[in-house]
Formats: sequence, C-alpha cells, structure tokens
Amino acid sequence: MTRHLLVTGGAGFIGSNFVHHVLGTTDDTVTVLDKFTYAGHRASLAGLPEDRLTVVEGDITDAAVVDRLVGEADAVVHYAAESHNDNSLADPSPFLDTNLIGTYTLLEAARRHDTRFHHISTDEVYGDLALDDPARFTEHTPYNPSSPYSSTKAGSDLLVRAWVRSFGVRATISNCSNNYGPRQHVEKFIPRQITNLIDGIRPRLYGAGLNVRDWIHADDHSSAVLTILADGTIGETYLIGADGEKSNKDVVEQILTLMGHDAGDYDHVTDRAGHDLRYAIDSTKLRTELGWTPSYGSFDTGLAATIDWYRENEDWWRPQKAATEAKYAATGQ
Ligand code: NAD
Ligand code: DAU
Repeated sequence: MTRHLLVTGGAGFIGSNFVHHVLGTTDDTVTVLDKFTYAGHRASLAGLPEDRLTVVEGDITDAAVVDRLVGEADAVVHYAAESHNDNSLADPSPFLDTNLIGTYTLLEAARRHDTRFHHISTDEVYGDLALDDPARFTEHTPYNPSSPYSSTKAGSDLLVRAWVRSFGVRATISNCSNNYGPRQHVEKFIPRQITNLIDGIRPRLYGAGLNVRDWIHADDHSSAVLTILADGTIGETYLIGADGEKSNKDVVEQILTLMGHDAGDYDHVTDRAGHDLRYAIDSTKLRTELGWTPSYGSFDTGLAATIDWYRENEDWWRPQKAATEAKYAATGQ
C-alpha cells in the first residue's frame, strides 16, 4: 500500500537524502515542509518525480500550515531542526523556536489527526563518552546533553515521549550518529574540509583533533528510518549507527590523502566550547528486533564518493562557502 509522507526539513541534508531514498525505493508520495533557512536548498530536491513530490515553503511553528499538512498525511517524518552546534553557541534562540516549539506544534497536530509520527533525533542527547571508555550509547543511556543544540533536541525527544504516554500519539524516535554524504552544508566538518581543499585553503581541526565521531552514510540513515516507520513499536526509541568510529584527526588526514595532499597539511584552530569528546552507538536493538543492517560500503568508499560529489557539484555549495568561512574566521576557527 502506498503512503503519503509529510517530511519536515526535507530540503536539508539528511531530509533531502531521505526524500531521494523514499522516491527511489518505494511508491510513496511525499510533501516536504521546509522553511528554507540558510540550510535548506531547492536544488537538493531537483530532478525528483514531480507527480510524487510537493514542496511547501513554511515554518513548523506555524500551527495552521502544520495542521493542514499533518491532516493530509499518513505519516510524518520530522527532520526539520536547527542542526549546527557552533551556530547554537553563537545564538541559541532559533534552536529553541524550531527544535522545541516546532516539535510541539507538530505533535499537537499529530494528536488531533491521530497521524503516525516519527521523530528524528541525535546521539548528542546522551552527552559524550571518554576516549578510553569501551562503552557505547544504548537506548538506556541517561540523557546528558552538552550544547544548546543538543539540549533542545533532548527536550524535543522528551516532548515526543510525553505525547505518546499522555495523549496516545503514535510516535517512534530514532537517535542517529554523525551523517556524511552528498548535499551536506559546508559549515559541517567533512564538507568544510573538502571544499577548503578545492579552494586551496588548509583544513581546520578544532583543538587537538582527538574527538571521535561515529560516521554513518545518510542513505543508511534513510533505510533505518523507513524500517522503523514500517516495523517499529509505538513509543519506542531506536539508536541508528554503522560502527564507524573515527577521530577527527584521522578523518582530516584521510580527506587530505584522498585529495592528493600530504596527510599533515592541516591547521589546529580554536576548540569548540564544551566540545563533546566521543560519540559511539550500539545499534543492536534496531538490528536484532527490526532486522536492519547498513548497506552502504565502508567509510573509505563513502568518503571518496562524497569528495567526488563536492568536486562535481560546485554550483550547489559555492553560494554558501564565502559567508560560512567569514563566520568561522570571526571565531578564530
Ligand atoms: P540541516 O541543517 O542540513 O537541515 C535542516 C532543514 O530544516 C533545512 O532544510 C531547514 O531549512 C529546515 N528548517 C529549519 N528550521 C525550520 C523550521 N522552523 N520550519 C521548517 N523547516 C525548517 O540538518 P540535517 O543535518 O539534515 O539534520 C536533520 C535532522 O537530523 C535534525 O533533526 C538533526 O537534529 C538530525 N540529526 C542530524 C545528524 C547529522 O549528522 N547531521 C545526525 C543525527 C540526527
Ligand atoms: O552526532 C550527531 C550530530 O552530528 C548531529 O546531531 C548534528 O546535527 C551534526 O551537526 C553533527 O554534530 P557535530 O558537532 O559532531 O558535527 P560537526 O560537523 O559540526 O563536527 C564534527 C566534528 O568535527 C566535531 O568534533 C567538531 C569537529 N570540527 C568541526 C568543524 C566544522 C573540526 O575539527 N573542524 C571544523 O572545521
């Protein structure tokens, strides 16, 4: 049976990868609701079948538009967020509006219309792990967010849990690790370094660069979300990860090598305030209960393909590059 999905934030990095995945692998139709902030791009949805995709420019805090679109959908997949930690340190205000009030507005509409709801969240709600700790995050790890961004994501998760328990909203939650792949904004770590090298700028590593992130290709994130939407248990949380732990230093060195430079050709810059040390996901629950496995190849293959994408799609990222670097220059990063 085909479904009609409302995808919030579908013009952003992971949301657009999800829309491409859904339209490429199912017969579902999709409405994207996106505010087109600095992080949303119409070009990210170019070339998709027009008879199965509707794009609405609007804000998830606008109760009227949200009520109409949620009422028309069989399910909501909620990606829209302010997503960048560094921006949340400079100005937390839009993070509270979009991540908290926006999620609340969607939940109230899902409650009124009894619409299935899937909430996209992050492993950052759990805080960080020590570099030498063998532990990984599980669904039972206590919440301990560090930044304005991750604290608003943690708050949004708790709203979803409360709306399930108090009002019977049919919701699931997933908390995923760091995504990489095509169409990611150049403010983020991997695209920033790739596009720096294309522009002849040396990569920038925060602090000593020993911080560890657990990388997953955005397409594997999408297949996991479709699996949870189909087979997940209402009220449950699922962690999504692909066993991709790497230090930032290792990633920068790998990018430099793949792009034909000396692995040591990067600079250390001012560290991020409150910088989380290590994220690591144990996705056993998703794999054993719902049978999901990542299908994208190794990080090395995915990184090489991502570099190729940025080399071939300069039109997509070029308009954002100078302003992004100017913002970083102001903080010494
Ligand atoms: P992104 O910043 O690339 O995209 C966010 C999208 O949301 C943009 O298209 C933007 O225009 C839209 N948006 C922002 N505010 C809005 C509003 N008020 N109303 C409607 N649309 C609005 O973000 P991303 O990296 O693709 O992240 C998407 C989701 O996935 C977020 O919820 C994030 O917390 C979560 N997540 C991200 C990662 C990651 O590695 N990037 C990992 C785990 C979870
Ligand atoms: O873990 C999931 C999270 O991953 C998501 O919830 C966030 O939305 C997403 O932005 C990402 O958060 P991070 O803060 O981990 O991602 P970012 O790309 O900003 O940085 C990755 C690491 O690289 C982090 O340790 C900071 C470091 N860094 C970042 C930049 C931009 C650098 O060393 N140099 C840089 O220039």
